[in-house]
Amino acid sequence: MTNFEKTKLIIWMQKFEKQGHTIYHGDAIKVLSGEIADKSVDLVFIDPPYNIGKKFNGKKYKQKDNEYLDWCYQWIDLCLKKLKDTGSMYIMTSTQMMPYFDIYLRGKIEILSRIAWYYDSSGVQAKKYYGSMYEPILFCVKDKKNYIFNAQDILVEAKTGAKRKLIDYRKNPPQPYNTKKVPGNVWEYPRVRYRMKEYENHPTQKPIKFLERIIKASSNEGDLILDPFSGTFTTSHVAKTLNRQSIGIELEDEYVKIGLRRLEVSTHYNGEKLEKEIKTYEREKIEKSHVLKLFEEPNAAQLYERNNEHSGK
Ligand SMILES: C[S@@+](CC[C@H](N)C(=O)[O-])C[C@H]1O[C@@H](n2cnc3c(N)ncnc32)[C@H](O)[C@@H]1O
Repeated sequence: MTNFEKTKLIIWMQKFEKQGHTIYHGDAIKVLSGEIADKSVDLVFIDPPYNIGKKFNGKKYKQKDNEYLDWCYQWIDLCLKKLKDTGSMYIMTSTQMMPYFDIYLRGKIEILSRIAWYYDSSGVQAKKYYGSMYEPILFCVKDKKNYIFNAQDILVEAKTGAKRKLIDYRKNPPQPYNTKKVPGNVWEYPRVRYRMKEYENHPTQKPIKFLERIIKASSNEGDLILDPFSGTFTTSHVAKTLNRQSIGIELEDEYVKIGLRRLEVSTHYNGEKLEKEIKTYEREKIEKSHVLKLFEEPNAAQLYERNNEHSGK
């Protein structure tokens, strides 16, 4: 039985809630169908398993393409039902699967942009074909005449190549041309790496900056944002910092624990204290500062020797 099939048998669900932020520990389809009111969500961000064999919490997610798509179409339909008539949806999957999503969604929702999240990769790339350097995203709205798009909140510098700012002499007095613009559909953000402050222990964590653009553009303060495959709960975390409300769903308890801590919904999970893992380089720093502190002591030399005896150095 594949991990996708196993999730169909899951009936349990746990709900955690604090100050406008809800975390569901359970299966996305079960939670979407049983827990969330129709037409209640302003923005849904969907970043599901891509069916490329990636492991989540040690479990490999890969099945036949048609089985994967049958599963995806179920939660896509549910997400569409949960969206308000003014709502927006951003949906991701692998480059291989995205054409199916694109065709499935036409006629059900308006696809306004086909976005490529581009990143450079220092890792070894494919040698006999062109390695993948981007992930596709569809930006869709229910009603193209009535949807939120806060262009002013996401402007970027328009790179003209000119060293000096061009002056618009038609204005009185003459002023530099506006150099800000709405971003195009190629978004460049580095992937979340181990040494980055925001890093959590998850293989496909999305960057904070990436979710900030989406949430700022397609929702207002107080709006409700849904993420049915939350992983490290980046969507809910950014929603909280931007004063929105959130609902996040995640199947794996290791990732639910990250969400509970990141959103400060709970300090404990089943009796376990939730703390961010100390990274190896941070541990080394702590150890070094401990040694330096020892040297500040009046009897530093003896203490240093004693410390080394104990640590066996
Ligand atoms: C691509 S990751 C999401 C990463 C997330 N956007 C982030 O920034 O961390 C997909 C997540 O879906 C979860 N998942 C897989 N099957 C699920 C299901 N049936 N219901 C809910 N979550 C599921 C996986 O455990 C994984 O964490």
